[in-house]
Order: sequence, then structure tokens, then C-alpha cells
Amino acid sequence: MEVFRIRGGASLRGEVRASGSKNATLPAFAAALLTAEPCIIENVPELSDVRFMADILVHLGAEVEKLGPGSWKVTAAEVSPQAPYELVRKMRASVCLLGPLVGRLRQARVALPGGCVIGQRPIDLHLKALRALGCEVEVEAGDVVIQAKGLHGASLFLGGRHGTTVTGTANALMAAVLAPGTTHLESAACEPEITDLCQMLSAMGAQIEHTGSHHLVIQGVESLKGCRHRIIPDRIEVGTYCIASAITKGDVKVVDAEVSHLGAFFDKMKEAGLNFEEREGALRTRVHPDGLRPIEVTTLPYPGYPTDLQAQACALACLAPGPSLLTERVYPNRFMHVPELGRMGAEIGIEGTTAIVKGGAKLHGAPVMASDLRASAALVLAALAAEGETWIQRIYHLDRGYEQFDEKLRSLGAEIERLPAEAMPESFQIPQSELITS
Ligand code: EPZ
Repeated sequence: MEVFRIRGGASLRGEVRASGSKNATLPAFAAALLTAEPCIIENVPELSDVRFMADILVHLGAEVEKLGPGSWKVTAAEVSPQAPYELVRKMRASVCLLGPLVGRLRQARVALPGGCVIGQRPIDLHLKALRALGCEVEVEAGDVVIQAKGLHGASLFLGGRHGTTVTGTANALMAAVLAPGTTHLESAACEPEITDLCQMLSAMGAQIEHTGSHHLVIQGVESLKGCRHRIIPDRIEVGTYCIASAITKGDVKVVDAEVSHLGAFFDKMKEAGLNFEEREGALRTRVHPDGLRPIEVTTLPYPGYPTDLQAQACALACLAPGPSLLTERVYPNRFMHVPELGRMGAEIGIEGTTAIVKGGAKLHGAPVMASDLRASAALVLAALAAEGETWIQRIYHLDRGYEQFDEKLRSLGAEIERLPAEAMPESFQIPQSELITS
């Protein structure tokens, strides 16, 4: 186990490069199962989730080869339909194997994803879509078991109680591209990661219309071919570095960012007092001379404010003078960062699905616990702004979704070190028995 030791106070300055998007990479790897021909996927981030997905594809019989930095080749000449629990439980996103296995093999057996600290993660909409496409779906001993000899195009509505589903749309897409007939996906997710998947599938020979909209129309084809696909930049990583600049009163540039993916984020962060400049492909973030301001944020499916940047905005709001409100419409309980920020001096109340941040906090370092990927990022941001030393445990959560997080932050002047857990003061150590491994 490793920990971060962070000494707060430095204003971050300099330039970092946005890595490829984790949430575009995972469905892209799954999509490579749709053809027996090799798929070359580039700009892939170095993340534990990517390595997990590669391991699962190998288990399914695919040949997975890393060609060089960020470049992978997946050749699924022969594929088995079974993705076992011991692999799937490590990463929920493996649920997006269902679609390609159904599309390619007309059958699938994938363990149901386990629980998740950010809240309910049902897959009812995924299964509704697959049933509409002609799949027989059973749940047997914790596995989703699908037979789809009669796979066919269908018109279906994908919206649920919290709006669209990103990986649900990915699954429906990857089954429909090889389903005879026409499929209409209404209320499809239109996150940039879905648009990126549509572009990869089209490069493989899929017929998809209205890419980027909430209504996708797919004409099924007989088979798909290999492709070369470049993953889009990670908009959530970019947003995290923008907030890192602001929370430390710094001046950070992010290169290779795709600013068109961050409309709602820019809108809200300008209200918070951030100034953005885009010059020669670099996105520069500084705080307005008048300083930070309180904000009201509600997370929504794209193009609304992204839930994956809610915790980071919450950390920033702790420093703004006056109360801020952050409401979750995607994951109502996604506030694991709140008690840990409280240990650093923040005053945040939770009313239903809204965090009420008192603001004006003087954050101080403390031993804190990472819980999920984005909550952990919020703790790092708070630690960078806090007075004194913060120890963050269970940083494996961060390694799932932030490539070289500590290296990139150090290159901007942050005092952050990755150390073995034993380096922590005795009093901060948690007995192994209490550690929840996930
Ligand atoms: C994707 O998860 C992302 N993960 C998440 O990012 C992201 O937070 C989420 O989309 C929302 O943007 C990947 O792409 C790998 P959803 P996904 O299905 O697809 C409900 C991160 O930090 N729902 O869009 O699992 C669900 O409970 C991760 O990078 C149903 O009710 O999310 C939630 O409230 C965390 N039934 C809402 O919809 C379903 O069948 C959005 O879920 C499916 C979802």
C-alpha cells in the first residue's frame, strides 16, 4: 500500500499534458472484441483500470499487446463469452463487455458488477436495451447470462431515473452495430466518450447516424474490421488541473486539452472566479484578481456539469468567501469527500442530495482516507491548498484514473511524495484488519 505526503502552500505554475480519457479507453478496448482483426488504440493513459481491462480481454482470449507509450494493439481472433467475477469485481466498467460479446458471439456471461462507494450502480437500463435487441437475459449465481441468437434492430428509450446512462449507451451501441436491421437509441448518452466510441465503431465499418446527439440511429452490418483509433483527452483530468491551479492561486497550462468538452465546467468555474485563456492549444487557468466566489452547481448528464468534477469543485468552494451549494442529480450520495474535507477544516453540511459548503475555510493538513477516484482527487486538491502536512491513504483509488498524478503535480511545483504506508507516523497507521480492499 502507498500513501501521499503533501505539504500545502505552493502556488502551482507551469504546464502539464492532458492524458487520454479513461472513460473513452475502457469502452474502446471492449469494442475491439467486435472484430477478429487487430485494433490499434492510441493515446491510452497508463492507468490501473486500463491494465485491468487488458487482463480481462486476455482472459476472454484476445491478444493484447502494448506497442509503445500510449499505444496498444488488441486482436480478438477467438473470444470466449465468459468474464468471471474475480476479474469483473475489480472494475465496474467491465460491464461494458456485455454489448460487444452479444454483438460478436450472440451470447455473454459477465459477473454482475459489485457495489460502489459513490452509490447505487444498477444496470437495469443496460439489460432493458439488450432485451429490446432480442436478447434473453437471466441472472444466475451473480452472473448476467445472455443468449441472443435472435439479435435484431429495435427502437428503444434508454433514459432512467437519473437521465442517460453512459456505459448503458455503450453496451446498446456495441450490440446494435452487428444486429440485423435498424436501431433507434432515444435518450442515449452524448458524453464525448460516447461520441469517441461512435467514431471508433464507424472506423470499424459500423453505420451510426447523429453521433453526438441523444438520438442515435444504427444500421446493423454483417461484420466489422480492425481500425486505428486515437483516444480523446481526459476532460475530467483537465478540469482537475484547472481547479488545482485555482485552489493554489497558481498559473497552470494544460496542453492537448479538448476545451469543447468542458462547456458546463467553464461556465460554472467562471462564476467561481476562474479566468481561462486558450492560446496555441494550451488552456491556461488563473484566479480572477477579485478572488474566488461561492458557486451553485448541479451535476447533470452531458452537456450538464459533470458529476466527476463535483468533488473537486467542492474542495475549491471551501476557500470561497460565503456559502456554496453543490447538488448531485447523477449520483445522489456522491459525497464521500465531505467528511474527509471536514477533517481538514472545511465546514460542509449535507441536505438530501446537496452539499452546503460554508466557505472561507482555512484548510489545515491532516491524515485522510481516499475512498473513490474523484473524492480522492478532491482531497489532493485540498491538501495542496492546506497549511501543513496531509497524508492520504489508499491512493490506489487515484492510480485508477489519474496518469502520473504526483509526477505531474510535482512538475508544477507541488510538494507531493508517494511513499510506502509504513512511512506514515505510527499514530496515522490503520490496522490492516480495518483496511477495506476494493
Ligand atoms: C460512467 O459511469 C463513468 N464511468 C462514470 O465515471 C461517470 O461518473 C458516469 O458515467 C456518469 O457520467 C465510465 O464511463 C467507465 P451511468 P456509468 O450509467 O456508465 C443510473 C469516474 O469517476 N443508472 O451514466 O456507470 C446510475 O445509478 C467514473 O470516472 C441506472 O439507474 O454511469 C446513475 O445514477 C465514476 N440504471 C446514473 O444512471 C442503469 O442501468 C448515471 O449512470 C444505469 C445507470
